[in-house]
Amino acid sequence: MKNITKVFKTIKPFNKSIQIEGDKSLSIRWALLASQANGKSKSFNLLRSEDVLSTLSCLKKLGVKVKLSKKYCEIFGKGLNKFVYDKKKIDLNAGNSGTLSRLIMGLLVHSKSSIKIIGDKSLSKRDFLRVTKPLEKFGAKFKSNSGKLPIIINGTKNPRPIKYTENIGSAQIKSSILFAALNTKGKTIIKASKSRDHTELIYKYLNLPIVIKKKKKHDIIEVDGMKKVKPINYKIPSDISSSAFFIILTTLSKNSKLNIKNVNINPTRIGVLKILKLMGASVNIKNIKTYKGEKIADLFVQSKQNLKPINCPPSLNSSAIDEFLLIFLVAARASGVSYFKKLSELNQKESPRLLWGSKILNKMGIKTILTKNSLKIYGNPNLKINKKIIIKNFLKDHRVFMASVVAALTYGGKWEISDKDAIKTSFPSFLNKIKSLGGKIQ
Ligand code: S3P
Repeated sequence: MKNITKVFKTIKPFNKSIQIEGDKSLSIRWALLASQANGKSKSFNLLRSEDVLSTLSCLKKLGVKVKLSKKYCEIFGKGLNKFVYDKKKIDLNAGNSGTLSRLIMGLLVHSKSSIKIIGDKSLSKRDFLRVTKPLEKFGAKFKSNSGKLPIIINGTKNPRPIKYTENIGSAQIKSSILFAALNTKGKTIIKASKSRDHTELIYKYLNLPIVIKKKKKHDIIEVDGMKKVKPINYKIPSDISSSAFFIILTTLSKNSKLNIKNVNINPTRIGVLKILKLMGASVNIKNIKTYKGEKIADLFVQSKQNLKPINCPPSLNSSAIDEFLLIFLVAARASGVSYFKKLSELNQKESPRLLWGSKILNKMGIKTILTKNSLKIYGNPNLKINKKIIIKNFLKDHRVFMASVVAALTYGGKWEISDKDAIKTSFPSFLNKIKSLGGKIQ
């Protein structure tokens, strides 16, 4: 069948250097912010995945000129609150992207007429009350069926600045508010639990009026809105979340080495590296540079035989939130029981990923204990799989697909994994990269 990937063999030892595609969070933020700038912004290495292409097409529907060529992308911003669209009602299709749908709502609090946001089956199951609640405080109005897509947003002529406490640790909520604050005269103040800080870093780089007070468990962020945004030229670094598939592939393979170049190692994104270190994996960070506020480095990974179990500190959850399916695969190889807690947010992703993490391990023959917000994994360093494993009906979650391929290539067994097109969401060249390292895939 066309959209099924079969993996019947483990990968042979490799020693290679690869370059991973551009960071998804940065690509979407760059495009949305460029649409608010006065003038032409240009980016190189923009991720060409469906989530980013959906971002560009939503912006085009809002009257923004976008030029996408082979090497770069240009966005011709007309300034804050300058979206133009003819029809009284328009639809914006966010596809699979939680980041796009939630962040763009922040830019629409000030819009003139009603706009409908729609998405695919997976996105339509996800929670939007988390963003409509704070955005309503700005004065925008929302119509939806219990906070699920499709959602109609009616902006307000006079948004008011807000004070808000974000206590999930979600960068999507925080950034949606930061985008609304940009379009609102006056000072918005957010008390935000720790989460990725790309939006804040770009605001700082652009000299927008943002003040951040960092506390141990949260940040207090103040933004003074309606200030002109300068165009942003940006070379998007490689995505650590996409790199993680190859970091874990190398860690769990035999006698292999991998060099991954130019990866964004923003401290709010590298929970996966910290967790791997605690588990005894070998990842060296070299050639650290700073680029427009973001940290970038080369990563050197080596296979590791003796992996330790972990009682994972919940303080690392937010900075590793997209990598847990992979971290669970490492825990399956560790010599002992690993424990991951306070992870209910994982079930809020493209599919219920805490559940899927447990399901994949059970299919592999690993014992787990799953609760609503935690997972215990009984590692088995001697696990070898010979049976057939079928992975399907996972709401086309790109990360479930790719983590399953990594499991198949490292643990063995005869895997049939559905919905290979899911990789187009975040990492279209994933399977080609696996093949370039010698992975046999049908
Ligand atoms: C993202 C934030 C995270 C992450 C998602 C991308 C972002 O979601 O899971 O893949 O770019 O802001 P939450 O902020 O909701 O945890």
